[in-house]
Amino acid sequence: MNVLLVGNGGREHAIAWKLSQSKKLDKLFIAPGNPGTALHGKNIDIGVDDIKGLVDFAKDNDVELAIIGPEDPLAAGAVDSFEIAGIKAFGPSGPAAQLEADKAFAKEIMRANSIPTAESRIFTSFEDAKVYIASRDEAVVVKAAGLAKGKGVFVCDEPSEAILVTEKIMCDNLFGDAGATVVVEEKLLGEEASILAFVDGKSIYVMESSQDHKPIGEGDTGPNTGGMGAYSPAPVVTDALMDQIVADILVPTVDGMNRNGTAYRGILYAGIMVTKGGPRTLEFNVRFGDPETQPILMRLKSDLLDVMLAVCEGRLDKITLEWDSRPAVCVVVASGGYPGDYENGKIITGLDDAAKLKDVMVFHAGTAEKDGDIVTAGGRVLGVTALGDTIADAKAKAYQAVDAISFDGAYCRRDIADKAINR
Ligand code: AMP
Ligand code: GLY
Repeated sequence: MNVLLVGNGGREHAIAWKLSQSKKLDKLFIAPGNPGTALHGKNIDIGVDDIKGLVDFAKDNDVELAIIGPEDPLAAGAVDSFEIAGIKAFGPSGPAAQLEADKAFAKEIMRANSIPTAESRIFTSFEDAKVYIASRDEAVVVKAAGLAKGKGVFVCDEPSEAILVTEKIMCDNLFGDAGATVVVEEKLLGEEASILAFVDGKSIYVMESSQDHKPIGEGDTGPNTGGMGAYSPAPVVTDALMDQIVADILVPTVDGMNRNGTAYRGILYAGIMVTKGGPRTLEFNVRFGDPETQPILMRLKSDLLDVMLAVCEGRLDKITLEWDSRPAVCVVVASGGYPGDYENGKIITGLDDAAKLKDVMVFHAGTAEKDGDIVTAGGRVLGVTALGDTIADAKAKAYQAVDAISFDGAYCRRDIADKAINR
């Protein structure tokens, strides 16, 4: 069958690579894709937000399944548009995607279904938010309710800092309309984990656990990014904890979404804080995580296209997936300056040498082709991912590959996976 994959990040390169191994696949189109996805299919010059253009392309090219990678087109109803055109689409409907696109909606779903999460308040007025924050003499977390590319969350140790951030979001429109509503919540302490599951409206299949590294700096310092590296599995997620996360978080969320009239299909990603009191939900995402997908899919042995079709057709209960027992580590190489300003167009060298290493995949994210060279074209440039017999071995291989690659201003954290190794 012909498949259209929408997106152009590292996540989409990993998905394209995995789909290209499916016996069921005829043609794979990626819109708009990147130089990495072009190795596994045909890149099509249509932006992720041009939903009409994507649907028209699918109709003209006998596409039977569209897979929507990023959150923005999901929230804008891309899946609904493909389905109206009679084309299967992998991902939640626009209303169901509000679980990620509107953190206030997500909090309401959690509250209504007794899903463990941080205590929070929702504000649409800066003055009200300010009075509330000033009344708390402890650390709070301020979140723009809308989509902000993973940068809309601020963990503030002082109320004064939280008030300044809230003012920037609500009054100075730091994230535009995405900051019209703000969630203020208690700061949770613990270790984080990402739990991703396939959901077909009724059944849930939980993938192997993973852990992201959100802050830019080593030792989890500095501002949050889209994610600077990830590993799978996350040893913090024991079997017992995973059972608890499924029973207390994933099942009630899927049930609650059904009761809400927004049945959930696609990937349900729960960002979890493992606190002393048990797992708490930090956020929901309605798509594969980036960079968690890179190590997770390196470990998936089964056919990804099969399970995606099972999700679309409501027969996930018939599916079992096989996983590589070896851990995988992904190190993100970013442009110097990210998550602030950075320059594009730096020539990347060493990609072929890195790709030759065994059990290593160099997933492209912010790259472009220019005059025969691969150049940087985004904040997060590459997701260098390796499998190893142990997590330390996977880490060593990933950094060996990272060290083979260079570009002007390249930056990566050197401590990816240390939390797992030092446990
Ligand atoms: P989110 O996009 O809501 O997952 O937030 C991004 C990151 O901010 C998370 O991965 C955590 O590192 C941090 N964070 C979010 N909410 C909280 C919280 N309530 N307490 C502590 N850290 C948080
Ligand atoms: N890695 C975090 C995210 O995909 O939102």
